[in-house]
Amino acid sequence: MYRTHNCGELRISDLGKQVTLSGWVQKSRDKGFLVWVDLRDRYGISQLIFDEERTSKDILKNAKSLGREFVIQITGEVIERSSKNSNIKTGEIEILVSNLTVLNESKVPPFTIEENTDGGDELRMQYRYLDIRRDSLKKNLVLRHKVSQEVRNYLSSRDFIEVETPYLIKSTPEGARDFVVPSRMNEGEFYALPQSPQTFKQLLMIGGLDKYFQIVKCFRDEDLRADRQPEFTQIDCEMSFVNQENILNTFEGLTKHLIKSVKNIDILNFPRITYDEAMEKYGCDKPDIRFGMEFGNLNNVAKHTDFNVFNNSEEIIGIAVPGGSSFTRKEIDKYIEWVKRPQIGASGMIYAKYNDDNTFKSSVDKFFNQVDLAKWGEITGAKKGDIIFVLSGEKNKVRAQLSALRLHVAENLGLRNPNEFAPLWVTDFPLLEWDEDSNKYHAMHHPFTSPKLDQLELLKTNPGEVKANAYDLVLNGNEIGGGSIRIHDKKIQALMLKHLGFSEKDAIEQFGFLMNAFEYGAPPHGGIAFGLDRLVAILGGQESIRDFIAFPKNNSGRDVMINSPSKLDDEQLNELNLKIGS
Ligand code: AMO
Repeated sequence: MYRTHNCGELRISDLGKQVTLSGWVQKSRDKGFLVWVDLRDRYGISQLIFDEERTSKDILKNAKSLGREFVIQITGEVIERSSKNSNIKTGEIEILVSNLTVLNESKVPPFTIEENTDGGDELRMQYRYLDIRRDSLKKNLVLRHKVSQEVRNYLSSRDFIEVETPYLIKSTPEGARDFVVPSRMNEGEFYALPQSPQTFKQLLMIGGLDKYFQIVKCFRDEDLRADRQPEFTQIDCEMSFVNQENILNTFEGLTKHLIKSVKNIDILNFPRITYDEAMEKYGCDKPDIRFGMEFGNLNNVAKHTDFNVFNNSEEIIGIAVPGGSSFTRKEIDKYIEWVKRPQIGASGMIYAKYNDDNTFKSSVDKFFNQVDLAKWGEITGAKKGDIIFVLSGEKNKVRAQLSALRLHVAENLGLRNPNEFAPLWVTDFPLLEWDEDSNKYHAMHHPFTSPKLDQLELLKTNPGEVKANAYDLVLNGNEIGGGSIRIHDKKIQALMLKHLGFSEKDAIEQFGFLMNAFEYGAPPHGGIAFGLDRLVAILGGQESIRDFIAFPKNNSGRDVMINSPSKLDDEQLNELNLKIGS
């Protein structure tokens, strides 16, 4: 037997027990007549003690030659420590070792495998298996497991069934590039890896499965960011005979359940706002509502003087920063410099302090009097002691700039508390999005999303105005899920594809299978997919998903541990009919 207990479970109540433990040597301290070893496994650390008086000479000698990360098995007695460590759960006891076996040796690891490691990012990625031995990564993976398990339990108990869909498919149009796989047996032809199982889950609804889910890998060849990986995991769901309300309620329930079961927090508010409202109030479609600082539109109260910066602006928007009237000139200047950086692109920023004596002091006092500024205060919801930051210019740009500033200020003021969870639904997304590059409309969600049916006529005259039965689930300023009610009518689907610029031939070539299926009684249906990696990262108090994935890719899409992607040899290329340059 390799172990009677794990390294995290022994307590003072186990004193006197003979135990066998196995694990890795985290570190050892050799005092000459005495050796202490920290033995680590998945569950924790137990301190081992070897000493001249009580340990045999051979074993003490062996203990002295143990290197870091050696795998050992020991047997010994649980004794009370003379100096206790209240930072770890096993800190009151140690094991007086009577038997030691080295199960495997280890090279000196390239970085220290402790919470405060000396290993840089790239090195830890290269030796990811060693990094996983560290507590923080291990905890993240355990959290991920717990979330997946709760998802399975919750949905299964509500009649959802998990169905696997294929990975070798034909391209699904979710807006990113596909990863493709050459087919050896079909010369010159390629599979695509799914960007999502979208069309398959719709086919399952036509197949009558009624409630489907799948925790499933998806693949998208897009530029990486902290919240994006080329392969990531969705909790993909679809339901039949439901309207939008049914779907929102079901997945609001799942979200609340997950936050309760893994964080023990009850979510009492689960607001819903439309896309248009989100853009007006927060300047973005995934607002962080853990704090206020909602946009106040100053167009009607800031254009009546000679201040031409405002007069020539399409949009003037302000936010009231709580407690900001105490900002020094230097602090304000720092914010002004921040918004002027090319990544944000504002040409400048106006501010007005709302002083405790009920007066305002602004950077444009020459143009605006106290009555004017009081209106700014009213519209932005400023309280005494706040500062109002104002940006102006072209509407969409100002919204994006102020939205970024709002998050930046909140971050600085400590208002983005990672232990607080504020989910919301953003609904009524536009159906279509104008793409400057290709000069045509794209589906904002995907081509199977149903327009609001009372707006079908508008599709002909003003397609950009049409709203969809599409919604996103936002948590702490991150899009963690998105879905829609689908089109189930063949004629509407054909109309939609036409508006997206598909010729009839292309539509049949790409989506013929779905259009055909629609001829055999497609039920009304809709669904959603959560980004599991993002959800788990946020529940873990972080926004970067990389450390919630066991083996992620780096920023250039590489796995530096297995060194992939990599070249194929000529023989393989030949077989796949991919021989280049011969
Ligand atoms: P969507 O494209 O919105 O919808 O994706 C659903 C969710 O998946 C997550 N996500 C990602 N996570 C990590 N890395 C990525 N590269 C990445 N891309 C997306 C996001 C997102 O909200 N088929 C539809 C769903 C539906 O309509 O039911 C779909 O895939 O959290």
